[in-house]
Order: sequence, then C-alpha cells, then structure tokens
Amino acid sequence: MSGPDVDGATAPSDEGIALEDIEPGRTLCVLVRGRRPGQRPQYAILSRDEQGRVVAYLNECQHIPVPLGPPHVTLMTPGRQRLMCHTHGAEYRLNDGLCTAGPCTGERLTAIPFEVRQRRVFLGCVGQ
Ligand code: FES
Repeated sequence: MSGPDVDGATAPSDEGIALEDIEPGRTLCVLVRGRRPGQRPQYAILSRDEQGRVVAYLNECQHIPVPLGPPHVTLMTPGRQRLMCHTHGAEYRLNDGLCTAGPCTGERLTAIPFEVRQRRVFLGCVGQ
C-alpha cells in the first residue's frame, strides 16, 4: 500500500500509489483533500478501464455532491463494468466518467490528472 490508512482508504504519499494496487473490477480510494483537522475529507477513486488503463476520478456524484459510497467498499456495479453511486444508483463509464444510467445521465465525474512513473501513480491537483 501507499500510505497510512484513513477511514479504510489509502492516504497518498510522496511515493505515489503502486500500479499493482489498482486492480480491474475494483476501486481504490485515496485521500486527496482534507488531511487537516476540520476539513472535509475528499477521495479519489482509482480503477482500471476495459483496456486496463488506470482511471482516476473525484469520489463525488454528479447527482448530489456526495461520495459515490464509503471509501472502503468497491464502488462498482454488480458486474464490475461501471462505477456506481450507492445513494441512488447512478452508473458511470470507467473510461471517461460519463453517467449512462440514473438521475444524472449525461453528466461526468471529475477526472483527476495523474502521471505514471516507475510503476507508481502520482495524482495531480484536484480542481475546486
Ligand atoms: S447521489 Fe448519486 S445517484 Fe443520487
């Protein structure tokens, strides 16, 4: 793992996230904001798309700005083909974050930029 656990998720460290910790059909949530006392924690969701490419999105639904679900559970449809919000069931494509079913169809998750260096993923800044 890449850093200390926070609420069952992984806090990113300066060493990045190991590629092998990001598995197809699963999600990995890492803390991207709110490490200071009193701040609301926000997480990135990392997974892999149908081609095995890494994807990273802010864990915030486009229907209502709440997390798709708690960071320690897999935030995917039962078939593990799409990301899914646990509140009202919005489904998002892995490769581009587009909502294809549910109350926010046509909206997109906020993509988080990242780089892969030496088999580790380094997340960029999350826009406000
Ligand atoms: S809050 Fe995610 S679908 Fe309603």
